[in-house]
Amino acid sequence: MTYYEDDQKILQIQDQLDIVELISETVQLSRRGNNYWGLCPFHGEKTPSFSVSRDKQMFYCFGCHTGGNIFTYVMKKNGLEFREALELLAAKAGVELTRPQDRSRADLNKAIAGINNVAAQFYHQNLLGASGKTARSYLERRGVNEQTIKTYILGYAGEDWQGLTDFLLGKGYHAEILKASGLIKRSDGQDRFYDLFRNRIIFPIMLYNRDVIGFGGRNLGDALPKYLNTPETELFSKRKNLYGLAQARENIREKNNAIIVEGYMDCIKLHQTGIMNVVATLGTALTGEQAQLLRRYTEKVTVIYDGDEAGQNATMRAAGILRQAGVKVEIISLPAGKDPDDLIEYLGKEGFLNYIENNVCSCIEFNLKRHIQATPLLDLDAKIRIINTLKEDIDNLDSWVEKDSYIKLLARKLKVEENIIYQEFRQSNNHRQYRNNNVRIRDNIKYGKYGLQEKILAAILKDPLLYEKIKSSIGIKFFANPEYQAFIYEYDRLQGEPNDRIKKIAAGVNSEAAAATNAMIAMLIDDEKESDNADREVEEFIMRVEQKKAEQELEKTIGQVASLGDQGDFSSFLKFIAKVNNIENLTREGGSL
Ligand code: UTP
Ligand code: MN
Repeated sequence: MTYYEDDQKILQIQDQLDIVELISETVQLSRRGNNYWGLCPFHGEKTPSFSVSRDKQMFYCFGCHTGGNIFTYVMKKNGLEFREALELLAAKAGVELTRPQDRSRADLNKAIAGINNVAAQFYHQNLLGASGKTARSYLERRGVNEQTIKTYILGYAGEDWQGLTDFLLGKGYHAEILKASGLIKRSDGQDRFYDLFRNRIIFPIMLYNRDVIGFGGRNLGDALPKYLNTPETELFSKRKNLYGLAQARENIREKNNAIIVEGYMDCIKLHQTGIMNVVATLGTALTGEQAQLLRRYTEKVTVIYDGDEAGQNATMRAAGILRQAGVKVEIISLPAGKDPDDLIEYLGKEGFLNYIENNVCSCIEFNLKRHIQATPLLDLDAKIRIINTLKEDIDNLDSWVEKDSYIKLLARKLKVEENIIYQEFRQSNNHRQYRNNNVRIRDNIKYGKYGLQEKILAAILKDPLLYEKIKSSIGIKFFANPEYQAFIYEYDRLQGEPNDRIKKIAAGVNSEAAAATNAMIAMLIDDEKESDNADREVEEFIMRVEQKKAEQELEKTIGQVASLGDQGDFSSFLKFIAKVNNIENLTREGGSL
């Protein structure tokens, strides 16, 4: 059973909302023909190849092969999971999703978010006010400017024990709900409440939409721990969120690259420097959930952790987790003892950018460096061990040019003959390689370059009579592309107008690639350019398929008779002749419709 009565709700929401209006909120669209066109928000482009269809309630980008319905759009645009997109659009459409028994939990989350937002403003005003003087000069000393303080709603928690408690109780919030937010604690055995944060710089942690879900607080004095976070609540999980994402996400998507750092300070200082595609973990090692979250925005992540041993070990682990999530990883090693914030202070903006450019390396290079550093005696045994440790990663590369350059790198760094390394590799060349399908499919369909398969799809979806004709002559199992094949089976199963059927299929699609293919198919129907010659090509195609079928039949029958050999009797021979004649007639006529 699904959590929500999903299907019905999806259709209801789709009825309430219009995709052209929704997308117009973020993309400037203009009408051309049946569709609306604009610059694709999912990849950088100068001429519009992003189209939106009001009839079909779909969008599709012919440049980067991203497409789908309103849900896909909101998921991609905001980096949301389906459930989250559903909630957002349901709220927009005024459709009630939660069942009564779940409502109290949703209400609690809403209340906590409300308290957090109010608290963030309270701390922020503190920082800007008289009591925030020391904190302000601390931030100034650390190179944080006023604009940054505003953008990230940085704040200050004073030294008294009940500043926030009194403020929030004064606003009429109940103590119990304040406790649930984690910002307020109850003293043991007493009915007294006090603040979690005291004498700390406050970093509000925001959701993609800038709702504050939790806080990090850095002490100003020597109190330990250096950083304190609000405890995990239903709303806030350190493992599932990233600091700075709300501010960084547009830029991450534009660059198709995210930089990940370890500290709040590192993140905001990089942003302040103009490097906007940066997010930070929240005091834990990078998790699979965070990697997945990044994957929704970008195909490539650059890891810039502290230059110490712990940071470098964490880099290796993070790289592994990111790669598992299907993300391409690059690494920038910092000098020992420096973090990104230190380096910016030390080198200035230009210097920092240069450093990044000159020190970026792949995971494999990074691993090689680490192994060499960690090996005191680089004798032959050690070299072979290192080559073997890196072999699998190099083997898994798609491109031979890349493999080759790594083999050369190994040879150079380990001072081993290239030929010998090639030999080590040759033995394992039969292994199959890991490929990222998502990336590959993007390149396949470039604008205006449809193949025959797409043309046939367009033609038969446009013309229900043609569809029936094809179905009854050659059937519907002829697409080489499995996604098209899956689509057409689904299409055939459903009833109604082509557009309605396509919309229904879209509602049931659950992979990103399938959603894009679906949207592309939907757009095909409207594309006037495609109708030139299409009919003729389709007829020719059907003829060819029938011919091929007939030829295969003929071969099969000849094969059967040949296998009869001497034992064949006269009547089966006659039957054979009759059959061959039939097939030959069919072939000669070309199976025309
Ligand atoms: P660092 O100790 O490297 O601090 O912790 P930093 O980010 O460089 O901070 P500054 O420059 O000294 O102000 C990196 C991150 O680890 C988490 C925080 O998220 C911090 O940003 N952390 C660190 C904690 O959660 N608790 C701690 O006690 C220390
Ligand atoms: Mn630091």
